[in-house]
Amino acid sequence: MKEKTLRALPHPVLIGLMGSGKSSIGRRLSKRLKMPLVDLDEVVVHNADMSIPDIFARHGEKHFRDLESAALADKLERRVIIATGGGVVLREANRQLLKAHPPVIWLKAAPEFLAKRIAGDTNRPLITNQDALEKLTALAEERYPLYAECADLVIERCEMSKKEITDLIIKFLKKGSKA
Ligand code: S3P
Repeated sequence: MKEKTLRALPHPVLIGLMGSGKSSIGRRLSKRLKMPLVDLDEVVVHNADMSIPDIFARHGEKHFRDLESAALADKLERRVIIATGGGVVLREANRQLLKAHPPVIWLKAAPEFLAKRIAGDTNRPLITNQDALEKLTALAEERYPLYAECADLVIERCEMSKKEITDLIIKFLKKGSKA
């Protein structure tokens, strides 16, 4: 892709439940589009100097959400691709911010697909020591409407390869740019 085309492309924000591939698709987009990627979970961990399970255990989920919201507000102002954490849409203020910074892309996947990918993961406190499928089903019920409210593009990802998803997002970005 030409430099001029690349520079004109908008910077996508990826949303979706845990395990939907926001970080890995973000890394592919970053490589192909030569845009930096910011993983919001990594920003929170860096700023707190503590792992996500430790933040939840020592300070509670509300504190984690405060750190997540601050990181979102800061990074949305930069020319970067953002891979968000699955719960970023829970707060109304975050949803307003996301809607004001398109394009927001929802990597939508069924709980069954996600549970296979993340069952047993100890870095995700919301599913630790729980039935991953049961928890993801409940999260999907609560959050699908919130993801839908923010999304400019919805990708049903279960049947698609990561390459196909990346290609689709790039096509969408090009369509929306003036390049
Ligand atoms: C969370 C998802 C995680 C992380 C935290 C809470 C959630 O991010 O932010 O464990 O509420 O769904 P990923 O979606 O990257 O796993």
